[in-house]
Amino acid sequence: MAVGIFDSGLGGLTVLDAVTRRLPDQPFVYFGDNAHAPYGVRDADDVYNLTTKAVERLWEAGCDLVILACNTASAAALRRMQENWIPRDKRVLGVFVPLIEALTERQWGDNSPPREVAVKHVALFATPATVSSRAFQRELAFRAIGVDVEAQSCGGLVDAIEEGDMILAEALVRSHVDALKRKMPNPEAAILGCTHYPLMEEIFQEALGPEVTVYSQANLVADSLADYLVRHPNMRGTGTEEMFLTTGDPSKVGRHATRFLKREITFIKA
Ligand code: DGL
Repeated sequence: MAVGIFDSGLGGLTVLDAVTRRLPDQPFVYFGDNAHAPYGVRDADDVYNLTTKAVERLWEAGCDLVILACNTASAAALRRMQENWIPRDKRVLGVFVPLIEALTERQWGDNSPPREVAVKHVALFATPATVSSRAFQRELAFRAIGVDVEAQSCGGLVDAIEEGDMILAEALVRSHVDALKRKMPNPEAAILGCTHYPLMEEIFQEALGPEVTVYSQANLVADSLADYLVRHPNMRGTGTEEMFLTTGDPSKVGRHATRFLKREITFIKA
């Protein structure tokens, strides 16, 4: 009955935390590819090769459904995986669509033509690879018209979070928000388009100001997953145990994860 949650490193824990609260009886297997993080500075082939390898490991662990709790992998690799790689009895879902549906006030599976929405000026904070893929703008254009998106690629931020250097991470958030505001002085909404960034959500909100609505993915993904599993109960998988896998150093990764989630987390080598 396990569902797989994948990220390049620690960021997917923000999604894991939300899905565990939303679905307390559902076991999850987490895979952090910490040895190869950050993905945000890698090219698309590299992200595809690393992501497919990790997803295969989660299939081995009994997870027929895997959530890519990583915008970089969702943006750079998911479409290619869905086109020709995923077997019929398995599913891999990304984290972009629930966020865009929330921003564009859509219900799940509403495929009507794009229409005007309330929000007009949106700031997107994401990794360099996600920004250059333009996947967010592409998915948004399917659903909304007249939305101006200004993307800020937040170089260095994932590395600082992975290293646990929160002083550097905070300074980087403030300087990336300043850079964004020079291009778009008054955004109405800000998207945290990397699953590592909710770990810095308070700083983003403080630097952006109280009038900006900050969207982060964890709860939106949790709601979409709960809905998906009701409609596809057969995708709950055969695994029965919660597990945390990493390609990095399990004790170091476990220490950081324990601090972020405020509960004891033990990682094992993937
Ligand atoms: N947390 C991931 C994302 O959502 C990956 C960040 C990275 O490895 O650069 O994009």
